[in-house]
Amino acid sequence: TLPPHVRLVEVGPRDGLQNEKRPLGLADKVRLVDDLSAAGLEYIEAGSFVSPKWVPQMADSAEVFAGIRRKPGVVYAALTPNLKGFEAALEAGVGEVAVFAAASESFSQKNIDCSIAESLARFVPVLDAARAHGVRVRGYVSCVLGCPYEGEVAPRRVAEVARELFAMGCHEISLGDTIGTGTAGKARALFEVVGREIPRERLAGHFHDTYGQALANVYASLLEGIAVFDAAVAGLGGCPYARGASGNLASEDLLYLLNGLGIHTGIDLDRLIAAGERICAVLGRDNGSRVAGARRGA
Ligand code: HMG
Ligand code: MG
Repeated sequence: TLPPHVRLVEVGPRDGLQNEKRPLGLADKVRLVDDLSAAGLEYIEAGSFVSPKWVPQMADSAEVFAGIRRKPGVVYAALTPNLKGFEAALEAGVGEVAVFAAASESFSQKNIDCSIAESLARFVPVLDAARAHGVRVRGYVSCVLGCPYEGEVAPRRVAEVARELFAMGCHEISLGDTIGTGTAGKARALFEVVGREIPRERLAGHFHDTYGQALANVYASLLEGIAVFDAAVAGLGGCPYARGASGNLASEDLLYLLNGLGIHTGIDLDRLIAAGERICAVLGRDNGSRVAGARRGA
């Protein structure tokens, strides 16, 4: 049986924009976040408190948080790789933060310049500070269905990292198919393995659509009882440290699937499509949502 309710975690303003080469203006970033909350999204990852040398597009996240119109009931979250990032996020009034680890050593080095073990040790003070301030922390694991440098990644490796993040206090663990190589059978098997360590209601799926498998992977995950999925409006994005990684699954396409399954989300598809069309026009970029494309043609 499928879950009756699914929560969408909109990562477009963060995962979607972090890899855009051309700087996007502050007003357009703020407008994107506000359009997404207006469409009914209740969890929006709006920025990253990371090194601006590593990810220049996220350098103005504090200004984004200062500029958005905060809609009651909406969680505005940001990535915080270390205590410095957490302190900046707190200052900016972030509602929830996320730490991010990887299931592959090479990716961990390329993405956050340290080993998996070092990253986990670095997150402990972030979790402690967050707890002291009553801020919830989400944990990401990258490369759960393949690594751009190491290839296959064993589900057991993913489960180990996920378990550590959960044990240190992350309330939810998002499993990221960073390069989108995963397929439905593997996605299902992964949640089956990780679901032995962590309650399934605490797990989320984060599928990049590089190989066009993201929706199938979502459906496979739904069958495993997973009810939280990350997606980016217009399928924006790509990871700066994973060459060839395309955008996330488009939020519009995910919503269309869920609507068709009768799974409630509270999100307005037309307004979501409009938000995606608008940001794509600003970026001068093709819209990665098939649903948005179909509506345009209709
Ligand atoms: P490092 O070089 O090891 O850090 O980088 P450091 O502590 O040695 O500091 C070096 C410099 O960075 C110093 O500045 C620090 O002040 C500064 P300098 O003295 O040279 O002028 N610095 C910071 N500045 C602002 N905010 C901070 C911060 N920390 C240090 N928080 C570090 C380590 C983690 C900082 C770096 O590697 C980094 O910022 N990486 C960002 C990587 C990133 O954002 N990747 C994309 C997000 S992850 C993702 O997309 C995957 C996901 O979507 C799931 C999936 O798809 O799999 C989540
Ligand atoms: Mg991602």
